[in-house]
Amino acid sequence: MAQTNTSNNGKMSVMEAIQSRRTIFKFKPDPVPKTVLEDILYAGIWAPNHHLTEPWRFTVIGEEAKLKLAERYGEIQVEKVTSNPEAAKAATEETLAEIRERGFQKFMSKPTIVAVSCIKEGSEQRQLEDYASVCCSMLNIQLAGWEQGIGMQWSTGGITLEQGTYDLFGINSEAEYIIGFYYMGYPDEIPTPKRKPLHDVLRWVD
Ligand SMILES: Cc1cc2nc3c(=O)[nH]c(=O)nc-3n(C[C@H](O)[C@H](O)[C@H](O)COP(=O)(O)O)c2cc1C
Repeated sequence: MAQTNTSNNGKMSVMEAIQSRRTIFKFKPDPVPKTVLEDILYAGIWAPNHHLTEPWRFTVIGEEAKLKLAERYGEIQVEKVTSNPEAAKAATEETLAEIRERGFQKFMSKPTIVAVSCIKEGSEQRQLEDYASVCCSMLNIQLAGWEQGIGMQWSTGGITLEQGTYDLFGINSEAEYIIGFYYMGYPDEIPTPKRKPLHDVLRWVD
């Protein structure tokens, strides 16, 4: 985690949080406590949003739903193999069972999971802007979490797109769509950052 900035009463500055935040894939087992989770989701509702549409919706996934999703996640990993004719021919029942179990365990290793969705309403322009607002909200959440020692992975994997997932959460896919899952928890490993220098992407026009 980033070093704290003592010039800011020991609190992490916005710039420090922005620069030190990393996507986290490996977590300690403890879930994010409910009050902390609500605090960081609260940061999400302060994102800019055009016409104050407040298009974000947050679905916190409980144990029962997590188990069902983990089983489905395991199946998806198997389907990735069986949908490729060559890989399917090479795979034994035993390897497929291992792939399924590894997928199940991988999903279960995410201590807290929140699905972030966006309401689907109005013109194409409004929908674009609402999507952008929810993305801003998601970054607020990630930064607010980071300040409290919580890391996240934004995931747009297949399981976030399936109708079964919408049904499990009671989300009407005509009226609202899932942008991604946030896997959250206390980081067990922080990856090394990678970015091109600013000057590679900066253009000044006279
Ligand atoms: C819209 C969006 C979708 C993403 N989807 C995934 C994903 O499905 N799987 C994943 O591992 N990371 C996903 N990420 C995280 C990025 O891979 C990550 O931000 C990138 O590797 C840079 O790392 P950093 O966040 O540590 O700077 C997503 C990020 C964004 C903004």
